[in-house]
Amino acid sequence: MQSDPGQEPSPYVNGFRSSIPYINAHRGKTFVVAFPGEAVDAPRFPQLIQDVVLLHSLGIRVVLVHGARPQIDQRLQESQLPIQIEYHRRVTDLNSLHAVTEAIGRTAIQVQSQLVQSMAAAHLNPANSVVSTGNYVVAKPYGVHNGIDYQHSGEVRKLRHDAIHQQLNNGHLVLLSPLGYSPTGESFNLLWEEVAEAAATSLKADKIIYFNGNEGILDTNGNLIRELTVPEANTLIAAQDLPHYTLISARDAVVKGINRAHVISYHHDGALLQELFTLDGTGTLITQQTYEKVRLAGVDDVASLLELIEPLEQQGVLVRRSRELLENEIEHFTLIERDDKIIACAALYPFPNEHCGELACVVVHPEYRQGNRGDTLLKAIEQRALMLGLNSLFVLTTRTAHWFMERGFCSAAISELPQHRQSLYNYQRNSKVFVKRLTAER
Ligand SMILES: CC(C)(COP(=O)(O)OP(=O)(O)OC[C@H]1O[C@@H](n2cnc3c(N)ncnc32)[C@H](O)[C@@H]1OP(=O)(O)O)[C@@H](O)C(=O)NCCC(=O)NCCS
Repeated sequence: MQSDPGQEPSPYVNGFRSSIPYINAHRGKTFVVAFPGEAVDAPRFPQLIQDVVLLHSLGIRVVLVHGARPQIDQRLQESQLPIQIEYHRRVTDLNSLHAVTEAIGRTAIQVQSQLVQSMAAAHLNPANSVVSTGNYVVAKPYGVHNGIDYQHSGEVRKLRHDAIHQQLNNGHLVLLSPLGYSPTGESFNLLWEEVAEAAATSLKADKIIYFNGNEGILDTNGNLIRELTVPEANTLIAAQDLPHYTLISARDAVVKGINRAHVISYHHDGALLQELFTLDGTGTLITQQTYEKVRLAGVDDVASLLELIEPLEQQGVLVRRSRELLENEIEHFTLIERDDKIIACAALYPFPNEHCGELACVVVHPEYRQGNRGDTLLKAIEQRALMLGLNSLFVLTTRTAHWFMERGFCSAAISELPQHRQSLYNYQRNSKVFVKRLTAER
């Protein structure tokens, strides 16, 4: 059967194409992916592991961390041993230690076997089909807290990060369990969240991804929160009756320098791929509070804006704008403010009928260059444009062509500009035109 040459590509083709920037951005990066024991028993667990193997196949350095709490509870019940959890942490006495290590060991084997199956199904080459486990986590006793002796429950003392890096360099996937050993050879039951956080910080991971039973982090009314900064996470934790331990761990990982922590659901088939390879994601993203604020401009900003852009107008880099014009157009501007000072700006002039917008007046104060602020502004403008239903941006520039080209803009003809903008084109200035189709990274 011959296909219709005018036929639209399938959603699969579109989806695959639009994931390319994310695939390239993530390749070679280190991601810690962590899930609780509940995920291992969830119906979607095989798909979760399949997606982890997909990340591994795409050249992402994956460190997987599993929990085993329900499996340990079950093993203790079978042995008629008491289950004691205090402040989210198990009390592990010597009698229950055997059951605890056995349950963790069994769960680790279950995870490995699922990984091996998925690796075989993915036809990975033998060198990349190795799941590395070992004594990577050095632990110490958690000790006595609030009068409770946690005995064989411990906390992470350090991670043998060099050994893990070596495994990742060899193309292996590393699996960590909630179990650590003291240098004297004693074993300690650990919190999977703490193992994950320690792994992410000591390996200087690019991301940490936590699976949990909800779609992500929920607010006090049970609604999904899409993005949280550290101060917002602190406010939410303070408002919770029962602190959400995954949120606490994610917040701590970000405070310790991990740029992005994601919380997604192990019930949601494909949540990991959607979170990492699409614009919208599915769960909650936790990031640092930026002490610099990106915000829309208002009339009070006109004087500071003039101060920022005038030197560039004098150099002929920017078209001259009078104070009156700037006052009229101020709502088109997005700013970066630092300690009440405007240090960067960019403007978006929408052309709603043509579903495009003009990006103009992109400026970073010379003292604040070399800090990716131009990229931050561009991203903010792109998001604003997407919210306005625009699907491309164009820019006219005389001297900054390559800066835009390096950020996905392509050369275009004057005739491709909206009709009204063509009529305003200044042939004497002879600016070059560049266009960018809009997609954004999560
Ligand atoms: C373009 C601009 C906003 C980027 O600010 P920034 O995010 O702080 O980035 P930097 O100035 O540190 O430059 C980042 C990179 O872009 C390059 N770059 C800067 N200006 C450039 C230009 N005019 N053409 C090509 N590349 C440029 C830098 O060399 C640097 O590359 P490198 O990292 O490989 O060395 C800033 O350089 C600026 O304000 N320039 C003057 C105003 C301007 O030209 N605006 C565009 C007209 S609308």
